[in-house]
Amino acid sequence: MKTMIQMNNICKTYGTGESAVHALNNLSLEIQEGEMTAIMGASGSGKSTLMNIIGLLDEPTSGDYQLNEIDVKTYSAKKKAQCRNATFGFVVQDFALINEYTVKQNIEIPFTYTADKKLKEDKDKIIRNTLEQLGILNKINVAASKLSGGQRQRVAIARALVCNPDIILADEPTGALDTKTSKEIIDIFSQLNEQGKTIIIITHDPKIASYCKKIIEISDGKIISNQNETSN
Ligand SMILES: Nc1ncnc2c1ncn2[C@@H]1O[C@H](COP(=O)(O)OP(=O)(O)O)[C@@H](O)[C@H]1O
Ligand SMILES: [Mg+2]
Repeated sequence: MKTMIQMNNICKTYGTGESAVHALNNLSLEIQEGEMTAIMGASGSGKSTLMNIIGLLDEPTSGDYQLNEIDVKTYSAKKKAQCRNATFGFVVQDFALINEYTVKQNIEIPFTYTADKKLKEDKDKIIRNTLEQLGILNKINVAASKLSGGQRQRVAIARALVCNPDIILADEPTGALDTKTSKEIIDIFSQLNEQGKTIIIITHDPKIASYCKKIIEISDGKIISNQNETSN
């Protein structure tokens, strides 16, 4: 198996002096291609900070991060942005959709950032196929504001998927959903994982985490347990 993410002794400190917050403390982890991992921890434990560093949205204060065997410190800002767009699809708790836009317009957004000409050419077909896979093709021309929470999260997942990322990073993707809808959303992630996507889901819900093959638990910016279904 290929190691996609390798972090060694990552620290992240916000602020300085007396007001310094040590959000991540010497955190090390490894994620292989094709894994479906849950990162669990209480509020304030450092989950979002970790996700932002994994997704190249933020930099650690110290420590090493190798993404696909390349030290991300060697990237220029431009290369890093390209790598972020090509590698990651982001899904967040509050969906981050533009309400006045239709489903299609929301999903078109990532195509503006991709350098891949083939993706741009196939845009309409990709959008339709993805919406069909997620069961919301009939909503393609509906304004995002008119959708239910579960439908909104499906749109957000479609938006994360259309540029064919290697890794889906989801930060509390079911945090705003009821139990039944949460299960439907986690089933979508499981399906995507079976199709080969590497998936990282941040959650504080043990039920959601139980659907993942690997569970990493963090507390005060440190890993306190790392369980792999296949190894126990
Ligand atoms: N931009 C920031 N500036 C200062 N402190 C921050 C910032 N972002 C997060 N923190 C602090 O870092 C710690 C970890 O936060 P976060 O990663 O958001 O945790 P979680 O996602 O697990 O709730 C918390 O104490 C939080 O208050
Ligand atoms: Mg968070």
